[in-house]
Amino acid sequence: MCEASEIGGKLLKWYDANARELPWRVPPGLAQLADPYAVWLSEIMLQQTTVTTVKPYFADFMARWPNVQALAAAPDDAVLAAWAGLGYYARARNLLKCARVVAENGGVFPDTEAGLLALPGVGPYTAAAIAAIAFGEPAVVVDGNIERVMARLFNEPDPLPAVKPKLKTRAAQLTPELRAGDHAQALMDLGATICIPKNPRCADCPLKSNCAALKAGTAPELPKRSPKKPKPTRRGIVYFAKRHDGHVLLETRPPRGLLGGMQGLVGSDWLESGAEFAPPFEADWTRSSDEIRHVFTHFHLELTLFVTLAGEVNPQAGTFTPPVDPNSLPSIMRKAYLAGHGMLS
Ligand code: ADE
Repeated sequence: MCEASEIGGKLLKWYDANARELPWRVPPGLAQLADPYAVWLSEIMLQQTTVTTVKPYFADFMARWPNVQALAAAPDDAVLAAWAGLGYYARARNLLKCARVVAENGGVFPDTEAGLLALPGVGPYTAAAIAAIAFGEPAVVVDGNIERVMARLFNEPDPLPAVKPKLKTRAAQLTPELRAGDHAQALMDLGATICIPKNPRCADCPLKSNCAALKAGTAPELPKRSPKKPKPTRRGIVYFAKRHDGHVLLETRPPRGLLGGMQGLVGSDWLESGAEFAPPFEADWTRSSDEIRHVFTHFHLELTLFVTLAGEVNPQAGTFTPPVDPNSLPSIMRKAYLAGHGMLS
């Protein structure tokens, strides 16, 4: 038996006994493919977000919008509010765009990797994952977990990101014609539970006798990474204004850019050079002693919060709005909204 099919066989046997039970999954052994809508939705949610965080959001979306036509027909605001807290709001906007493209196609997802790749918000990883898991295509699925497993199994010493193409070639050599979706998910589960970043549990690994890094003693230090550039810090100002009737000054952010289309407090641009105090109306503004902090993919954000109790004013930005569920706001705005309320109560 060649090494690839030996590894593939051990992996599927391990998966049959140890697959994580996940709500978007068909358990192994049922010889049945998963619902493409559920696979697509879960894969979009799981980009940059953990399984634990995604589970309740996935359940909520499936309950409210059980198929792609239902999601396509949903109001943008409802979907963005349901997405709030998952981050990366461009994903939610593309999710809706994609749902509407698929709904126009009779609610049928393309069944090939190339067809899936043409959909809004579906990149190479996601297209391969849906093709393999929902359609059984032998697509090569490579996420961060699978990269780590490949780097160790083949003891690849070169650092990420330069080593990515080599890791993909390795993954391709292992991808089977049959059960490609289970194979991909087996590698994901192995990476999430056994071949973990620190202190890998090599003694429990079904591939321990095939693992070149285990033999060389290098498993815990792989994959190597090129040193990361430190993230810059951007600064800005947000203004929390509450009226005596409890209404709060909020604005809907422009559709493009960070937190695009989401509701939030009125505020400045976010720049490394900081922002000038320029409130939306003249009032007695009080500055919070603590900054509101959040970490985005490419920068740290520190927002200075100013609060005031507003009289009858005409703000230059935003609208006085009845109180909202803080969970419908993106995380940084939820922190600022709750801190603002705290200061005025
Ligand atoms: N992460 C991304 N997709 C996943 C899946 N299908 N199963 C487990 N973890 C995942």
